[in-house]
Amino acid sequence: MHGITADKSENTDKTAKIEEIARRRGFFWMGSEIYNGLSGFYDYGHLGTLMKRKWENTWRDYFLGLDDNFFEIEPTDIMHEKVFIGSGHVKCFVDPVVKCKKCGNIERADHILEDILKENFEGLNPEALSELMKKHKIKCEKCKGLLEEVKTFNMLFPLDIGVEKPQKAYLRGETAQGVYVNFARAFEQLRKHLPMGLAIVGKAFRNEISPRNLLIRMRELTQAELQIFFDPDKINQHPNFKEVEDYKLRLFIAENRKNENIIEVSCKELKGKLPEFYIYHMAVVQKFYLDVLKIPKEFFRFRELSQEEKAFYNKYHWDVELKLSIGWKEVGGVHYRTDHDLSGHQKISKNDMSVNIDGKKILPHVLELSLGVDRNIFALLDLFYEEEGKEKRIVFRFPRHLAPCDCAVFPLVSKQGLPEKAEEVKKLLQSVKFSVFYDASGSIGRRYRRVDEIGIPAAVTIDHQTFEDGTVTVRDRDSMKQERVAINKLPEFLAEFLRGREL
Ligand code: GLY
Repeated sequence: MHGITADKSENTDKTAKIEEIARRRGFFWMGSEIYNGLSGFYDYGHLGTLMKRKWENTWRDYFLGLDDNFFEIEPTDIMHEKVFIGSGHVKCFVDPVVKCKKCGNIERADHILEDILKENFEGLNPEALSELMKKHKIKCEKCKGLLEEVKTFNMLFPLDIGVEKPQKAYLRGETAQGVYVNFARAFEQLRKHLPMGLAIVGKAFRNEISPRNLLIRMRELTQAELQIFFDPDKINQHPNFKEVEDYKLRLFIAENRKNENIIEVSCKELKGKLPEFYIYHMAVVQKFYLDVLKIPKEFFRFRELSQEEKAFYNKYHWDVELKLSIGWKEVGGVHYRTDHDLSGHQKISKNDMSVNIDGKKILPHVLELSLGVDRNIFALLDLFYEEEGKEKRIVFRFPRHLAPCDCAVFPLVSKQGLPEKAEEVKKLLQSVKFSVFYDASGSIGRRYRRVDEIGIPAAVTIDHQTFEDGTVTVRDRDSMKQERVAINKLPEFLAEFLRGREL
């Protein structure tokens, strides 16, 4: 099956190649494909799903491990309409759009300007965008017709529930609201102290006007978000700040926008500009990217959002950006949301959201660590894709612990008892929880190329010598070096290899 063309993309040669491999091998492709696809929706195949689960579990281990009072919950995707009145989304979760007077095509006004002027215009109000469109004499991208004034468009997906007198609801536009509406109950169930963290790894839905760049801007997306509730009187402290005070954050500050300068500033030095609690968590997020996801540091930065660019609920807002082949792209954010959400829900629901700690009545504030899972998966594909040597060996050099499978198992040839022995080795590895990719078809060289192309870090091959001395070869995807290892030592060897041991 050929598959349909994906959403509009700032296409580079590299993204086109990644998209082709993703579709052919089983990472992802456009949803509802047999009906010509549905723009902004992507299905994950077997490899993409394995990788996404690994990424999500890596996220859980790291972020939920930060504090004994951090937990994951799983609220619903569909929520009462009043949730989004309380949160401000019904009023403010809007994008600026512009319609062509001639052909009726509708596009995001800021994206049209960005495509033409190569600058970021996110956050500008409709009046300012209309002015700019006029100043630069921008016409319809499709038919060159004249454009209407810029208007706003709400991105929530509304739903009617039930048959008679349907109840109005929305698909949640961010996972965060599932936490806020459950805050008071969770506080009672847990240790009744702050900070308290509640996380959701789940779906969010946004009626994007122009989905683009494959998994980067989708209409149905997965978020991994941790909401940390804390006492606002303690925003200038964090008990572990000493551990990070000399750690350097990579910052792209608003005033450096024109010259693209990234500066490295220690957490200690940043204290005049941002509160300690916020800075500490920026360090936590940066360490997740550099130390856990193994993103080379030149490809990582925090981007400070200006007053106009910040989300409507944020007081401090720095995006996490990665440098991809399509430019710097937002893959997450560190958001100080104050008491915006709890006070909004308190007002609309008339439920008291304040808590009592040591006789003090507190309406907690929220620091949100928000990462887009799909964007991060796309980033891994983009950052770790390589074509190597004259032969252009295609290889995804994923960090070993994030690859779709831990290892491949191959019989050298499909005869003389080798497949049976390979089955045995596969079962042994699966019994100790390695994820294994088994392949017995085609020449061994082709099989190595096939697993390189999906980023599997190690390939275990059973050959004739296996019957003589009980050893197999282990081949490293990156160096292509091989080592003979005794089968009874294989689980230990592979565990070490996945932790970083070189062959
Ligand atoms: N919860 C923050 C966001 O959706 O970006």
